[in-house]
Parts: sequence; C-alpha cells; structure tokens
Amino acid sequence: MEEIALKIKQLVDEINHHNYQYHVLDNPQIGDTQFDELFAQLQRLEQAYPALVQPDSPTSRVGGAPLDGFNTVAHRNPMVSLNNVFDRDDWDDFSDRIHRELEVDAVEFALEPKLDGLALSVVYENGVLARAVTRGDGTAGEEVTHNVKTIRSVPLRLKGGEIPALLEVRGEVLMTKPAFEALNQRQTSAGEKLYANPRNAAAGSLRQLDSKITAQRNLTFYAYSIGEGAPENLTTHSAGMAFLDTLGFKINPLNRVCTGSEQIYAFYQDLAIRRPELSYDIDGMVIKVDRFDWQRRLGMNARAPRWAVAWKYPAEEAVTTLQAIDFQVGRTGAVTPVARLEPVSVGGVTVSNATLHNIDEIHRKDVRVGDRVRVRRAGDVIPEVVGPVLPRQDDLAVFQMIESCPVCQSPLSRIIGQAVFRCGNGFRCPAQQKEALKHFVSRKAFDIDGLGDKLVEQFVDEGLVNNPADIFALEHTQLLGLERMARKSVENLLSAIEAKKRPTLGRFIFALGIREVGEATAQTLADRFGSIEALSQASLESLTDVDDVGEVVAKSILAFFANPNNQALIAELFARGVRPSVQQVAEKEDFLQGMTFVITGTLAGGSRDDVKRQLQNCGAKVSGSVSKKTTALVAGAEAGSKLSKAESLGVPVLDEAALEKLLAGDLSVL
Ligand code: IVH
Repeated sequence: MEEIALKIKQLVDEINHHNYQYHVLDNPQIGDTQFDELFAQLQRLEQAYPALVQPDSPTSRVGGAPLDGFNTVAHRNPMVSLNNVFDRDDWDDFSDRIHRELEVDAVEFALEPKLDGLALSVVYENGVLARAVTRGDGTAGEEVTHNVKTIRSVPLRLKGGEIPALLEVRGEVLMTKPAFEALNQRQTSAGEKLYANPRNAAAGSLRQLDSKITAQRNLTFYAYSIGEGAPENLTTHSAGMAFLDTLGFKINPLNRVCTGSEQIYAFYQDLAIRRPELSYDIDGMVIKVDRFDWQRRLGMNARAPRWAVAWKYPAEEAVTTLQAIDFQVGRTGAVTPVARLEPVSVGGVTVSNATLHNIDEIHRKDVRVGDRVRVRRAGDVIPEVVGPVLPRQDDLAVFQMIESCPVCQSPLSRIIGQAVFRCGNGFRCPAQQKEALKHFVSRKAFDIDGLGDKLVEQFVDEGLVNNPADIFALEHTQLLGLERMARKSVENLLSAIEAKKRPTLGRFIFALGIREVGEATAQTLADRFGSIEALSQASLESLTDVDDVGEVVAKSILAFFANPNNQALIAELFARGVRPSVQQVAEKEDFLQGMTFVITGTLAGGSRDDVKRQLQNCGAKVSGSVSKKTTALVAGAEAGSKLSKAESLGVPVLDEAALEKLLAGDLSVL
C-alpha cells in the first residue's frame, strides 16, 4: 500500500510539473502522448485506490460531477475596482496628486496590461487550492472552485519552499483568441449559440455547473495581486509578482516597473502597438504604485484604491456601409431600429448589426441608408453607429420612419415626448406574442427547461400555442410530428411543463410581463399582496404605498389588470391548474429564527432560490454546506453528497412535503 501511495505521489508531482512547463512557462519538456500515458497511469491507480487520491491530483482538471447550484461566498477583503483615466491630462492629474500626497519626487510605478476577462480570487490553505470565488459585487461572489481546478495555469498545489498557511491570490480569468475561435467553431457545428467575444465566453465558461464543460474551454489565469498572506519581507507589488511566479502562477511577461510619466506614455504606446498581436484581449493598462508602504499611505476609496488607476484605450471604431435599417418589435411593442451593416471587424470582432437607439437618434445623426458610417464598440457593450462619414458621395434620401408594424402591419404610434414608437396590436402581433411567450417561460419567470426561443417560435408558427395558457394544454400527439421532437424529447418537455405549474407568486407576476414590472418589483408585489387576486384589485394608493413602486409602475399595473384579455389569460391559466404556490409572508415572520437550513437536489415545487427566500422570510438562515449546526437539510430529487453527510451527522432531512408543512408553521417535522 505504501508503495502505491508513493507511486501516486510521484505521478502527481510529475504530471503537475509538466503541466506547469506547458501551461505557465509555454515550454513543454515531453510530448502529448507521453503526457497522456502518465495521466492514464495515474487515473488507473486512483480508480483502484480511491482512498489515495491526492487533493492536488491533476485528474481533477478534467472536471467532476455537476453541481446543483453555486454557493455565495463573502470575500475576506473586498474586491474593489479601478478608477479610469483616458488621456495624458487625466494621468498627469493623478500622478501629481500621488507625488504631492507622498511628498516625494520619484515614485516607482508597476505597469501592466489591463486584461479583458473576469476577476477571480483563489485561496490556498497550506499550499493547496482550497477555494476560488468570482468577484461578484465585490463583497461576495460565487464559488467556482470545481471549474477553476480545470484551468491549467492555476496551480493545484503551490511550488517552492516558503508557503504561507493562507494565501489569497487575485487575477484575471480569460480565454485566448485562438481558444475563442475554436470554441465558436465547435458551437457552430453543434448548432449552439455563438459567444460575442472572448470575455463573454470566459464568463460563460466559468459559470458552468458542469466542470467537464469548463475543462474543454481552455481558460487561462494571470495573477495580478496578492489579496492576503504576502510574506512580511515583501515590500513592493513587483516583488509580490515575482514571489507568485516562484509559487507557480502565470505572471504577465509584459509587466514593467518605471518612474516618470515619459516612460508611462511610452509603455502605453508600445502596448497599443502590440495589442493586435497579443493572443488575448486587453482594454488598457493598469498603473500601480509599487511600494506597499506608499500604497497604504494613499489608502482606498469605497470603490477603488487611490494608489492605482486604469488607463483605458478609447473605444474601437471602424467604417463600413449601412445597408439597411430594420425594425425589431419587442415584447411590449416597442419598435427599435437596427442597422444592417456590411460586415466589418471592429477591434477583432466582426460586426454586422449595430444599434441606432431610436428614430430621434437617426435623425439627429442624419444617418441614411447607403451611407458610409462609423461603428463603435467598447468592451462589452452592443456596437453602435456613431454617425455618417461626411461629405457623402451620393445623393441619399433622408431616412423616413416606418408607419406600420413590420410584423403585423398595424399602425405605429408614440406618446408625445417619448422617443419610442410602439405597435399597439398587443398579443395579436405575432412578434409581441412570441416575445411575451419567451419571457413567460424564461429562467426568471416560469423557467421551463427545454422550452427555448426556437421552440416557442415554432409552436406559434405551427399554431399550437397562442397564449401562455396554451403551453399547459400541449399534448403528446401534437408535438410528436414536429421537427426535432422525438418521443423522448416530447416526454421531457411535457414533464418539464407539468413540473412548473406551481411557481412562486413573484415568478407568476413577473411572467405576466406587466410593463415596468421587473423581477425585483414582481417579488416586492408578491410579498406585499400575497395573491394575484389581491394584486389585481389593488388601488392606485395601495400600489404606490409599496416601496419602489412609483406612479408610473402603479398605473401600468392598473392598466394591465383593467384589460379584459389579461384577466381572461389569468383565468385560463388557473383553469389549467397553473397558479402560484401558496404565499405566506405579508409581514416578515420569524418562527424559524436561529435555525440554519441547507438545500440540495432538484425540487419539483420551485428553484432552490425560491425555497431559500421562503425560508429566509421566516427568519431562517440558509447555508451552502451541512455541518453539525445545520437544523435540517431540505433534499429534493437526486440529492448527492450533502444528503449522505446529513445522514452521517444525524441532521434531519426534509422532503418537499415536510418543507411545505414547515413553511406553514408546523415545527413538528423537525
Ligand atoms: S489590479 C486594487 N491589475 O480590472 C487593484 N486589475 O477595473 C485591483 N484587471 O476587476 C485590480 N487587469 O479584473 C488589476 N493587471 C491588472 C488587471 C486588472 C485587468 C481588471 C480586474 C478588475 C478590473 C478593475
């Protein structure tokens, strides 16, 4: 046995070493086949001796069992953001302030590319990767350890001699341009949606519940700061980066230390020239005061440090031809112009559509079909048409607003003073009908698995579904004939629909698509009124009494319920057995005060978030992991390790029936 343990340890170390050579140093020492052989050997041994699997085993990089949700984890220290400067004047102001406050003539600055990915915090306990958390709102983020273990430039165990008991490293997760191209090609062949840019792709890949998917996405991690645990003898940021380098992290080789603004301008220029050739996206450079004692003296603001700044590149622009202006009809009938462009590359992304905002903007910019136009794209935002290149060569007609809905041809109108034209045909307009149905089944509303946009459109086009209530009347025989609907998918879809007949009241209200009522307002209304009946009879006064509900929102709610079509829809839903699950909590109750619950598995009655909120509304705490202190575990179908842990600790387990009793005030189920 000892021999095998030793063999396993050797293999782990050897594979981790080669992984480091390849993914951090870009300097492989053995070929792929050799590497795969070592890996397979380790896998065989681990399978035969599961007790001997090491915490830093490279086999965890291929991904493990899917999670059933993300835990929210508070950061030990907030993950702040950076203030921006955009030109030399801005920078000079910043630099002057630093020199003045520090009362010195020469300040060393660390200069780094500003990587365009997502911030991540990774925590090591005694040298072993323990936890990885996204930035989230800066105070708390989502735990994504399972996914981060698949990122090969993140060490699973730190190298070197001097390893702090606790070390928090921060850095950027990104997808390289080649990895992004390859991913989108695979998405195309699989008929899946394409990612707009490497940043979105990296974000989507990091937020997978199934780490096997993340493992195939080829993410990269560059470390850029030490959050906690820097050894005392480190006195500068750049020495901190050199230290992280010895521990096995990937540090950007372009990082520099310099003094004086001339060197900083030069770095900025140089980086701008290299930018197109870099294998990853950057959106500027970051300038940090190098000395830690000076960083401490300068201190922090609520949002950002006062010792660092991001110098962003201007948004990228390109010139192309405006081929047409089309109009899209949204869920509420708003008709918005979209520019159809001759495809053009803007900062590495091909753009063929861009927003024109609204008709007033088109006229203000005097954009005409056929114009050469400047198109701008900044980071994540939707590309926009900046304006025409003047003088124009040809005599082009001033753009005229369309007068009728491009989908149902009914006349358009707009309220005086508003920029938006609307199609007033409501649900009779197929575009609005489709959008309303997509909204109804979407993730934050009824959340019907497997009923995506394409299928909704198909159902409407085939005449199977006209309104949301029709979804609950769909039958096997109707669906079996449809394209891409085999017996199994039909069964899955119908049971997914059946499973969502009792949403929370908040979801039900949100799903109705009342104008001005978003997810948060819907939840507030649910908490306040407790039933659809009460909400539908509410007066203007009682509505505006609710926090966050102003007159505009209140009037929109009144108008919605005054419309007989909407009343009929609700009645029809009820008739099909679709109604909100029982909602207590008009006022916050506290009969579960002092108790802690953990939720796991798939719940038929609602998502884990819904159950969490219901428990919290009764005063309980909801935690992500089971311990001796847990009051009870709420377990749905296919509960995994949390269930076995609860059982081994003697923590009571509640099924959904017991949960319902508990929420109704029956504490005997505990
Ligand atoms: S340092 C206190 N260094 O930029 C300093 N951030 O707007 C905090 N970023 O969310 C950040 N490259 O994800 C730092 N070399 C770099 C960076 C960098 C990209 C991101 C980071 C943060 C955002 C701040």
